[in-house]
Amino acid sequence: MTVIRKDSPEDWKELSPSTISLRSHTMLKQVLCLALVALAAAQNVDEQCGTCVVDGGPLTENGAVGYTYDPNDCGAYWVCIRRSERGDDGWMYDVFTRDCAPGTLWLQKIQACSRCDSEDVTCENSGPKPPLGSEQCPEQPPPKSTLPPLPPVEQLDQNCTDDAGLMKSSVIGEASKFFIHYPNHDPLGPVSCEPYNFSLSLCRCNAPEYDGVNFGFEGSFHAAGNIAVCLPNARRSVYFVNESRVGDQSVYLDGMGHIECPLFKQNSPRAPFSVALWVYVDPIVSDQRKVALVNNAKCNIAPTFELSVQGGVVEVNIVTDNGTFSASGQLGGAYQGEWHQYRASYNGAILSLDLDGSMASEVPADGDLLSNEAAWVVGLNCYQDTQQGAPTSSLTGNVDQLEISFKEYIRP
Ligand SMILES: *[C@@H]1O[C@H](CO)[C@@H](O)[C@H](O)[C@H]1NC(C)=O
Ligand SMILES: *[C@@H]1O[C@H](CO)[C@@H](O)[C@H](O)[C@H]1NC(C)=O
Ligand SMILES: *[C@@H]1O[C@H](CO)[C@@H](O)[C@H](O)[C@H]1NC(C)=O
Ligand SMILES: *[C@@H]1O[C@H](CO)[C@@H](O)[C@H](O)[C@H]1NC(C)=O
Repeated sequence: MTVIRKDSPEDWKELSPSTISLRSHTMLKQVLCLALVALAAAQNVDEQCGTCVVDGGPLTENGAVGYTYDPNDCGAYWVCIRRSERGDDGWMYDVFTRDCAPGTLWLQKIQACSRCDSEDVTCENSGPKPPLGSEQCPEQPPPKSTLPPLPPVEQLDQNCTDDAGLMKSSVIGEASKFFIHYPNHDPLGPVSCEPYNFSLSLCRCNAPEYDGVNFGFEGSFHAAGNIAVCLPNARRSVYFVNESRVGDQSVYLDGMGHIECPLFKQNSPRAPFSVALWVYVDPIVSDQRKVALVNNAKCNIAPTFELSVQGGVVEVNIVTDNGTFSASGQLGGAYQGEWHQYRASYNGAILSLDLDGSMASEVPADGDLLSNEAAWVVGLNCYQDTQQGAPTSSLTGNVDQLEISFKEYIRP
């Protein structure tokens, strides 16, 4: 698969067929080759980019950039950029390949190119290791280890500032893409708004407004509209199973997997809203730690919405511009090995918690829920685990009928 190798540093080739943006003088033949390579590799992209690690966690945040090995070539690596949603090609990532400098090969452990003569460089999963004296590993004083540079990118056009104060840029000739300018960081992107365009005046994707998101998990994570979508982080640790509280199926998380809802990144619901889901916590799980149900934390950013359970006590915490509020209640019956429904509602004046259809707790609360750059996730507890130094408290069990609605919850 040497077709996707590139030789000059400027000559990036994006693998995604839906977003192929071949800069300069490219011929049809090349486009066809790229498309074929892309198809051949298609089933691997999500899994492969899932081996990138960012901020101590998996590469799940929209716009995040990570690096990983090239399965076809030890003298190259992949640059994975997390999309805001699954592309037409079925992938969650834009992927570029990049060559290691001559005299170096990819070392997955440090996620960088390292000297050919290093014993750590085994070319596992991308072998065989080129011998010394080959083109990639010439017999001459090898250069120092090199860190992978950020990908050269599309030309930025105009800037805007979104509701959360984050600067973004449109891209010349690419209506659906934008870049994010985090302070003290090279511009991150391109982030794709497909199937919508990026809007400078809104400073976000020009996607329709939703009155809520509903996931029955009957075999698909996709909801109507294709942007109000929640996605599994890696298929290996998120399964559809037939044990279900409602409907035919539910989704099973094995303690490693989670579901990400990118719609809520920098876009927290305004009051009134309510979040409900059915949960079955596996009996094998220790009851000593909090099990995350829904939150919008990144590994290094505290959540502003969190619904969790520990030893049968369910708790909802929200952080608004007026403070932190929390409501909690005790489940009836066993909290493990049984299905329960949890619902948190906030209407701008009251934060309430309902368990199995009955009101468990109500507290006064006010203010707008704070946004952060984390997507909402189901089942992952990375922030708390990072704080406590032991990644063990993500959900092991089933989730069904996740419902996030942007309207007042009226008890039946
Ligand atoms: C947009 O912002 C970037 C980063 O601050 C800056 O370098 C660039 O000049 C700005 N572009 C325009 C058109 O204002
Ligand atoms: C996005 O922008 C392009 C170019 O301006 C336009 O042709 C296309 O119709 C737009 N797509 C949507 C969904 O608005
Ligand atoms: C789950 O249920 C569906 C429909 O009822 C059925 O088609 C499928 O084979 C079942 N899967 C398993 C693993 O039992
Ligand atoms: C929210 O802030 C306003 C203005 O500072 C204050 O009057 C009100 O008491 C606050 N509410 C709560 C619940 O803290």
